[in-house]
Amino acid sequence: MALRFTIFLLTIATANCRIIDHIHQPLGKQLFLSRRVVTDSSEFDGGVLVNDKGKIEAVLKRDVVNSILTQQLDNLKVIDGGNLALMAGVVDSHVHVNEPGRSSWEGYVTATQAAAAGGVTTIIDMPLNSIPPTITLQNLKTKAASAKEEIFVDVGFWGGVVPGNQRDLTDLIKAGVVGFKCFLTDSGISEFPMVTRNDLAEAFAVLNGSGTVLAFHAELSQNDKSTACSGPGCPDPILYDTYLASRPDEMEINAVSFVASFLPQTDVHVHIVHVSAEGVIPILEQARNERIKAGYKGWRGGVTAETCNHYLSLSSEMIPPGHSEYKCSPPVRNITNKMKLWEYINDKRLDLVASDHSPSVAELKGSNFMTAWGGISSVQFDLPLFWTEAKARGHSLSMASHYLSAGPARLAGLQDKKGSIRPGLDADLIFFDPDASFIVTPQVIRYKNKISPYMYRVLTGKVMRTYLRGQLIYADDELIDGPKGKMLLNEGF
Ligand SMILES: *[C@@H]1O[C@H](CO)[C@@H](O)[C@H](O)[C@H]1NC(C)=O
Ligand SMILES: *[C@@H]1O[C@H](CO)[C@@H](O)[C@H](O)[C@H]1NC(C)=O
Ligand SMILES: [Zn+2]
Repeated sequence: MALRFTIFLLTIATANCRIIDHIHQPLGKQLFLSRRVVTDSSEFDGGVLVNDKGKIEAVLKRDVVNSILTQQLDNLKVIDGGNLALMAGVVDSHVHVNEPGRSSWEGYVTATQAAAAGGVTTIIDMPLNSIPPTITLQNLKTKAASAKEEIFVDVGFWGGVVPGNQRDLTDLIKAGVVGFKCFLTDSGISEFPMVTRNDLAEAFAVLNGSGTVLAFHAELSQNDKSTACSGPGCPDPILYDTYLASRPDEMEINAVSFVASFLPQTDVHVHIVHVSAEGVIPILEQARNERIKAGYKGWRGGVTAETCNHYLSLSSEMIPPGHSEYKCSPPVRNITNKMKLWEYINDKRLDLVASDHSPSVAELKGSNFMTAWGGISSVQFDLPLFWTEAKARGHSLSMASHYLSAGPARLAGLQDKKGSIRPGLDADLIFFDPDASFIVTPQVIRYKNKISPYMYRVLTGKVMRTYLRGQLIYADDELIDGPKGKMLLNEGF
């Protein structure tokens, strides 16, 4: 891979260089240059000036860059990416790290190394499948202790709402969780039971007025067709359609209607994770409109939804028999559904795209779709997966930044720190080659279990470099140095 970077250090040896004081530039600054600086709403030729604390100080058009470069600046490091796009790092608000407790599935080192290699500079860890799950302050401390010293990108945490932990929620908010997640159907994990209407009413009462987010795995349990049938005469569990039929659109649609029924009694922001069935979007929009009419002032009427790269990249027709690496819940649906989700992306009727990176060991997969563990690992490929589909549809890089960086940062309450190229934010930056391509292979994959429905696929767009708070953490297919990530929890935690 040809290195297209020009890096030069302007070290004009004029001690006490006055120019620096004159234009208010202390030492240790960096100027990132690109012909394609990408924000979530535009693209231009210019640069990003980063201060010695790793924060973005200024976003500059090329003419301003040129005038800075004609000055003799002591120790201004200029990093010129040429035609590579300079973008905000990806923020993935839906990642299951699984450590401690299920660290054979995934861990902080491998998950965050995969993230760094994919230009993902912040991940938000889900409250399950670790043991313990993040449902009490004590459990959050246990998680944080295992993440500490191990993280290559910044890591925030979701808390969980489960039956009986209402009294733990306020402590978790004080500690700095970005919000809470709950399940309306069996989570598949015994330590993280689903909630009932009563549990939810209690949780909403506690969370009301707190400004937090309650996120839903929105499939409403029905008479579970998945386990009802076994043996001769039952549909073939090796076929994907058997699994798909066991989790129809209605499960999602009923769940979202159920969630909407709580909205008149609460001011809590509700978020639907991993929307698969396109039919839920109009229901959410109606709920949002009613809330706004009732005077709700917050972001998107306090009603948001994410979808995942697998729903935007895959469709049920292409899933071969016995290949449970394609299994997730809610399931990947048909091509009509996928096209509709892209229509919603195009019209900005969805709010963000996340990975739902949910790994497991190979032994839990196997060829039976009904019994295999559901979960797709893809945190490393967030941007190329989205871009492969988006580019083919004629979308811009700004669109990718909007859905993969700004949207998830906003959901996590990190909009003043992460997710955009704007003065005052962390210089979490990537150089991305939107025209390069690469093949997903086990050698390329950095997360722990090298299982993927994208194996041997060609993806468009390659992350060339990743910077976390101004520090280079990944370049030329290699991680640079040790872990530099921080936990995004409140001070004093
Ligand atoms: C929720 O909080 C809002 C203020 O943000 C208040 O107006 C409303 O009455 C509260 N609802 C409940 C059910 O306590
Ligand atoms: C896709 O699924 C939807 C809902 O399950 C169905 O109405 C539609 O006919 C299907 N389309 C195709 C092409 O199979
Ligand atoms: Zn998940």
